[in-house]
Amino acid sequence: MGVIILYGFFCALLLFSLFKKHWGKPQQRGNLPPGSMGWSYIGETLQLYSQNPDVFFATRQKRFGEIFKTHILGYPCVMLASPEAIRFVLVTKADLFKPTYPRSKEQLIGPSAIFFHQGAYHSQMRKLVQGSFSLKIIRNLVPEIEAIAMSTLESWCGGKIVNTFYELKKFTFDVAVLSIFGDLDSPIKEKLRKNYCILDKGYNSFPLSLPGTSYNTSVLARKKIGQILFEIIRVRKEKNSVQNDFLGSLLNFKDEKGEILRDDQILDNIIGVLFAAQDTTASILTWILKYIHDDPKLLEAIKKEQKPFFEANDGGNLPLTWAQTRNMPLTNGVIMESLRMASIISFTFREAVTDVEYNGYLIPKGWKVLPLFRNIHHNPNFFTEPQTFNSSRFEVGPKYNTFMPFGIGVHACPGNEVAKLEMLILIHHLVNRFRWEVVVSSSGVQYAPFPVPEQGLPAKFWKESSANMRGQD
Ligand code: HEM
Ligand SMILES: *[C@@H]1O[C@H](CO)[C@@H](O)[C@H](O)[C@H]1NC(C)=O
Ligand SMILES: *[C@@H]1O[C@H](CO)[C@@H](O)[C@H](O)[C@H]1NC(C)=O
Repeated sequence: MGVIILYGFFCALLLFSLFKKHWGKPQQRGNLPPGSMGWSYIGETLQLYSQNPDVFFATRQKRFGEIFKTHILGYPCVMLASPEAIRFVLVTKADLFKPTYPRSKEQLIGPSAIFFHQGAYHSQMRKLVQGSFSLKIIRNLVPEIEAIAMSTLESWCGGKIVNTFYELKKFTFDVAVLSIFGDLDSPIKEKLRKNYCILDKGYNSFPLSLPGTSYNTSVLARKKIGQILFEIIRVRKEKNSVQNDFLGSLLNFKDEKGEILRDDQILDNIIGVLFAAQDTTASILTWILKYIHDDPKLLEAIKKEQKPFFEANDGGNLPLTWAQTRNMPLTNGVIMESLRMASIISFTFREAVTDVEYNGYLIPKGWKVLPLFRNIHHNPNFFTEPQTFNSSRFEVGPKYNTFMPFGIGVHACPGNEVAKLEMLILIHHLVNRFRWEVVVSSSGVQYAPFPVPEQGLPAKFWKESSANMRGQD
């Protein structure tokens, strides 16, 4: 299915680019970076999708060095494969490179969502998001995240085959809803879930506004989410309840002129956080389950770290404490190494807002710029034997500026702590109470749209005690 989505996405962008040529015509101030632009702009794009992207980037990096030009989806691009160049674009000269997304995605998520912006509005929203997902706030969510983790894991049991990725998307959705709305009544949450699932399907569909297309259905689902949200806000106002969750911060916000946020700004930013939080965290968790499953010694080591907490908490009857979650170095190393290995956000996109010179090369105005995170994470100069999963490598910190699974600079992920926390909590309960067996074990990768193990890692789960009885020990 992912392949079909990817194919659809590709066709959509291809058609777009045929209608809307976007060739930058730079005045020759400096030299363009080396690289091949492909025999036509379709050329390089096909190669990117028909090969393992690692191979595409690695062969070009070998030929051309740390910065090279190419075409992707009809746009002239500059690819960056060195920590210094990435830092230049995302941190030091971040104001010269603006975020850029396909227009249809911007429409579906909402144009006022944080990640489409630069400048004053972006920094205001960023402060707000960072505050709502800071350690000070999320430390209070541990017991509720735990309850969600346990009921999610229990719902998988009984020997049926579950699509791990699909089920984890429910978990990460529930945690996102918790951090946005606090406790939400079940019927409202289910209505939200139903409509968000429809919206989610549209993100990578062809943006055709005709009745019955998946894009049209998504637009309608988005409108419904708006209605649900305004109902939640109305009830809150009626009850006069002030809450310090994300919605509460959005409602309480006032800029320096005393202006509050418009309803559409609130809606766009809530959908934005749901979008940013759900697939990313679920994809990484799916990889973690695969890596642990494929390496029994690793599973034993994690259990050895997690068991004492489980026992200290009366066999899981008492909630995990914040201090316990801060004291899981080995499990934490597994998460970091999984983030590196899977590098699900392989790269990001920016666009030069003016002609920019970097190291003697010209990056022309209007060109796309792609920092290649995955390429850095898999570079043997920074990570020895990069294709080997080795969580011990994070016992000493990575080299400066070589590990950026959450990005860097002004748009770096403000949700990284809550993502890591929910992963720690899920792993804690998974290894202490459950056993699992992967049904389709292959090295295949699928793009959904982030890379996940083939077919979403179909697996069977059992409670630990019944697993023992089945002789699974
Ligand atoms: C393992 C899970 C996650 C990964 C790997 C991840 C990764 C990233 C990356 C690489 C960026 C920067 C993109 C860029 O510079 O273009 C980003 C931005 C962002 N992430 Fe995450 N993320 C994760 C989970 C979350 C969660 C749980 C939230 C919920 C709060 C979240 C909210 C955001 C937001 C709002 C932005 C945009 C920030 C801005 O533009 O200033 N992410 N994320
Ligand atoms: C979607 O289709 C319906 C008819 O089923 C139509 O009324 C509506 O305008 C369309 N919406 C969009 C966004 O194209
Ligand atoms: C894993 O990494 C550690 C630290 O970098 C290293 O000492 C160890 O030899 C590595 N283990 C394997 C199996 O490669």
